[in-house]
Amino acid sequence: MEVTLKHFFSLLSLCIIIATSNLTGQSVWLNELNLSAMDIGWSTPKANASVDGNPLSIAGIKYANGVGTHATSRYLLQLDGKGDRFIASVGLDDEATIRGSVKFYLIGDKKILWESGVMKKNIPAEKVDISLSGVQLLGLLVTDGGDGNNYDHADWCDARLVMKEPVNPAQLVSRRGQPSDDYYILTPKQTDAPHINSPKVFGVRPGNPFLYTIAASGRKPVKFSVRNLPRGLRLDASTGIITGVLTKESVYTSTLVAENSAGKSERELRITVGKTIALTPPMGWNSWNCWADAVDDNKVRVSADALVSSGLIDHGWTYINIDDCWEIKPNATEEHLKGTQRDEKGMINTNKKFPDMKKLSDYIHGKGLKLGIYSSPGTLTCAGYTASYQYEEQDAVRYAEWGVDYLKYDWCSYGKIAPDKSLPELKKPYRVMRSALDKVRRDIVFSMCQYGMGNVWEWGEELGGNCWRTTDDIFDSWSSMAEIGFKQVGHEAYAGPGHWNDPDMLVVGRVGWGPELHPSRLKPDEQYTHISLWSLLAAPLLIGCDLTNIDDFTMSLLTNDEVIEVNQDPLGVQARRVSNSGGKQIWAKMLSDSTQAVGLFNAGEEGKTPIEYFHWDDTPTVKIRVQGSDLGINGKFSVRDLWRQKDLGVFNGSFESDVPYHGVVLLKIKPVQ
Ligand code: GLA
Repeated sequence: MEVTLKHFFSLLSLCIIIATSNLTGQSVWLNELNLSAMDIGWSTPKANASVDGNPLSIAGIKYANGVGTHATSRYLLQLDGKGDRFIASVGLDDEATIRGSVKFYLIGDKKILWESGVMKKNIPAEKVDISLSGVQLLGLLVTDGGDGNNYDHADWCDARLVMKEPVNPAQLVSRRGQPSDDYYILTPKQTDAPHINSPKVFGVRPGNPFLYTIAASGRKPVKFSVRNLPRGLRLDASTGIITGVLTKESVYTSTLVAENSAGKSERELRITVGKTIALTPPMGWNSWNCWADAVDDNKVRVSADALVSSGLIDHGWTYINIDDCWEIKPNATEEHLKGTQRDEKGMINTNKKFPDMKKLSDYIHGKGLKLGIYSSPGTLTCAGYTASYQYEEQDAVRYAEWGVDYLKYDWCSYGKIAPDKSLPELKKPYRVMRSALDKVRRDIVFSMCQYGMGNVWEWGEELGGNCWRTTDDIFDSWSSMAEIGFKQVGHEAYAGPGHWNDPDMLVVGRVGWGPELHPSRLKPDEQYTHISLWSLLAAPLLIGCDLTNIDDFTMSLLTNDEVIEVNQDPLGVQARRVSNSGGKQIWAKMLSDSTQAVGLFNAGEEGKTPIEYFHWDDTPTVKIRVQGSDLGINGKFSVRDLWRQKDLGVFNGSFESDVPYHGVVLLKIKPVQ
């Protein structure tokens, strides 16, 4: 009989469970609780596995039982004084690299009951066995060990609560500190009359193919026309797609017109033919946060279809970006990923999931959308597929042949090529690809992805990046989204038309890094915060969810034109943080019409002390007051609520609003003479 390791461990844990229950009353195992309420900085918490799904393992010792999580991780349990002891062995999982470091805390009713040292790779598990006597609320916290949360794979092994009396484990998980579950929709219903929503400015290089689609909401069919359309361009009056070529550096002002049986809308468009593209942050969809390596041609096509049929295209969403996993994968076992990496001329091949990239690109362009692709400056991409090292020029040519409009260029395996992480080494591969892209006659947005190394925001523009990731990967948790979003303080000095800070893609809707998807674990108010903050930050907006299965709440988040206009404002200023006190944050972004977009955020008192990682009392709606003087406004100003698209009145000196826990009120503030 074959006895696998798994069987052995299951048997072992069964024995432990039986033994402990007999000795000390009821043991409640952490891995048996509902872990969906555990907030985690990356991926999802795993029962009886590490956060990456491997057997739990600390300093070479394997554990059958426990929970794999990732800093920052917090979990609040309601013991009501029924707990006797908490027992566990904790540490950094062996799957982490030397960059990982974590610290564990047990906090009972606002008091630290126990804390570990800073746990790093190969440090043996620390054992904890503490009394829970009298504890009402128990917080399990893992922080990042003081050096950011890279590879912070933290394990609570053999973790259990020994209870004084029998309890229903389902009732132990506390709802306290959780924002509301109410999926309330604020975006008003669309009107029948048309409204033009595409950007007010558009940059193109002389001689390169021009593609701009007039985005207009309103009842279909809508008929389009353009006054003063520059010679060299043509408009399709039924789709609003403008194509052609402009050969000379110049600035044109055209008037876009959209009409239907219910009315008419006009908007000025400034076309700048010059060196700069991406004059407003790119908006679209990327395959990674939903499909990851499950992406294929069909999923990309149906996403493009859905961007159109759902009406998202009418609000300015434009790019359909294929992330990693379209290339040949060396050493793959899966038949459809095998093949010759490049042809005899060194031109890159696709794997069998993408039979004809040019056809796919034509399909996408035919809808007025644009196509994005992904590569790495190393020999392999992050997921281990063929990348561009020493083939940068061939790849740029190939992208141009295919009709690619956006390249995400992701550091990953280049880490093995660069001798060190000095600034010249960090810049080098991006400079090489920049110059390759400059040789092709196509406008390709250059998205530099290297997670913020070497303060990339300080030199991303000089290198010709159109945007650059400022952070590690985002996940659909409050810890991840809020830590990334609110940490963008100070980066505003480096953003502007054609060069944007990129705090990573959106995690609303059904996400999951494929093939299994789940609704975003961000609570509704957290999702309002996510979209409002990314709009204020003038961040690229790349939807990361399954577009073919999108609910009304998510649609309402992605189709509020007054919110999107904050992101797409032609001035291209990124919001600055005006104030931050007791978790109440105010951010303001100057807009081209001399008004300001202002976000009042109730972010909670995150992380000043371990105790403040939890909300021990009911989740508070707070009042946040913004002073006109903080915005450089003396005297009266008018206030408009952008999510509700409603004027709130004229105020003198200051304005105050209730803001829900982890939520936001997004305003447009205008001085009144
Ligand atoms: C990195 C990037 C992600 C995604 C994956 C693909 O992790 O940061 O956004 O592109 O690689 O492998």
